[in-house]
Amino acid sequence: MCGIIGYSGPLEARDILLTGLSQLEYRGYDSAGIAYFDTFSDIHVVKKIGKVANLKSICALETDTAHCGIGHTRWATHGGVSDANAHPHRAGKVTLIHNGIIENYHGLTEEFDLEDQLASQTDSEVAAWVLDRFYEGSPLDAIRHLLERIQGSYGFCIMFDDRPGEIYAVRSISPLVASYTHSGALIASDLTALIPYTRSYFVVPEHHIVKLTGYKISLMDLEGNAVSPEMMKVDWNMDSAMKNGFPHFMLKEIHEQPEALKQTILPRMAKGIPDFEDDRIPDSLFTRCSQIHIIACGTAMHAGMVAKALMEPVLRIPVTVSIASEFRYEDPLIDEKTLVMIISQSGETIDTLAALRLAKSCGSMTLAIVNVKGSTIARESDYVLYTHAGPEIAVASTKAYSVQLAALYMISCRMAFVREKFTRSEAKAFLTELLDAIPAMETMIRKKEEEKHLVTHLIQQNDVFFMGRGLDYAFSLEGALKLKEISYIHAEAYAAGELKHGTIALIASKVPVIAIATQEHVFAKMISNVREVKARGAFVILLTKEHAAVEEGLADIHIRIPDLDDRFTVFPIAVILQLIAYYASIGKNLDVDQPRNLAKSVTVE
Ligand code: AGP
Repeated sequence: MCGIIGYSGPLEARDILLTGLSQLEYRGYDSAGIAYFDTFSDIHVVKKIGKVANLKSICALETDTAHCGIGHTRWATHGGVSDANAHPHRAGKVTLIHNGIIENYHGLTEEFDLEDQLASQTDSEVAAWVLDRFYEGSPLDAIRHLLERIQGSYGFCIMFDDRPGEIYAVRSISPLVASYTHSGALIASDLTALIPYTRSYFVVPEHHIVKLTGYKISLMDLEGNAVSPEMMKVDWNMDSAMKNGFPHFMLKEIHEQPEALKQTILPRMAKGIPDFEDDRIPDSLFTRCSQIHIIACGTAMHAGMVAKALMEPVLRIPVTVSIASEFRYEDPLIDEKTLVMIISQSGETIDTLAALRLAKSCGSMTLAIVNVKGSTIARESDYVLYTHAGPEIAVASTKAYSVQLAALYMISCRMAFVREKFTRSEAKAFLTELLDAIPAMETMIRKKEEEKHLVTHLIQQNDVFFMGRGLDYAFSLEGALKLKEISYIHAEAYAAGELKHGTIALIASKVPVIAIATQEHVFAKMISNVREVKARGAFVILLTKEHAAVEEGLADIHIRIPDLDDRFTVFPIAVILQLIAYYASIGKNLDVDQPRNLAKSVTVE
């Protein structure tokens, strides 16, 4: 997904655009560009591959002033990483930036005979040319005609040569938020670019046109009728979106986890058990369903895997976990008796959004667990349980994962209570143990230096294997993803009992195996699996509870977490796995917060 920002007002536009792009860079950082009206009301475009810092150095040479412009950071979808494919795109009288995918751009290229005009390989430039073809002086008419012809997802910000000081914006699926502030009119793909200027904003409704000028923002439907925006309040502070002295956002966000859990759990406790009355989530949602279907991507999906392992033994109903990009193209076995839980930090992941829409079309009730307020998934779900982790800037998800788990644990407890699987005292005990996981996380964070030295061996390897059983297997999935996405070391997670059915062929001398053994009912089996890989020369990093009985020398490195009930070990284990990935990335001198090829939220298919 890409970062988008637009500004019109009395201040120097380039400064605002470049600062905003720096804050949005986590959304995509293959290339960046800005376009602005200069003092002669001509549009200038400056765009370059690489990070915003490259763009800043070029813009530093510019001398004129600007009060209206748009900016873009790109995560390449159509067309490689090149200056020509960077946004903004110029097409006749149109200058445009785009977040999303225009699915019918080939057909439009042929229909409007654009082949020879294109300076790039992007679908976005095609949209700009089509818009230009329709532009005869009325931005509204031209945009309306464009929307009638394009298919796909978009967040557009547009300037027209003969409309100095004006920016037009429109969206479908891709996010846009806007606000008229003391500094002028602002629009962006997410709040991080707005919060330095305002505490109130509105989410741009889909298929509505926003017009920004230096003195106001107008919201219209496609017929041009004025619409009053639904204003919302920012509940983040600017510090939340800054590093505050940490070397990387990821390390800061690892440290923020205990507080994030408290913010997510404590406001939802009543008489010692979970209570969702303030979230307007009725108990009937939990009592009526005969099955649960969890749908998400990446780390969020891994949180779902943990929830499955936690819920089924207690609730005794099927809990299915689906990858959203698969689910959305299936003919799913869900109905009005299915509780579909959608998990998404950003609330904008396009596959997850599509899965949500499919689930609703099947008549299922939908409950979203989302971190970004007012996001598309939050707004389209029947019910939403917001996590309160604050903005997560690092591409590798950490605090969002642990608060997603906390939310899922709270839901599990409430469901068990209202379905009479937990007595009130059992529910209270469960919640107490969940809260006990917070100091256990703090302990592992305080001991973070332990993980620093153990990666020395890992970063010299090409492959790392994670293994566990039961909940530990679910935890290991997230550990493998963390390691590979920021250290680029190939990592795989296995159900420990499955290793000997093939993969153990890959275990040779010094191959690292991270074994998670916190589940007491299968601990002996896990130790056997550790012996099996050890016998083949593996370098074993063993994670167990404090008082686990492990013979000396079995593991090359043995990390112990505080003794918790088996169901809650995921929280300190998650900290260890996050730190292993973090220090491995540092050890390889990689870009921890903005790893190659990735973006924070995938709002394109
Ligand atoms: C995890 O570290 C990644 N950033 C990625 O897997 C992420 O969890 C996934 O893209 C889902 O994003 P969402 O939670 O915003 O929907």
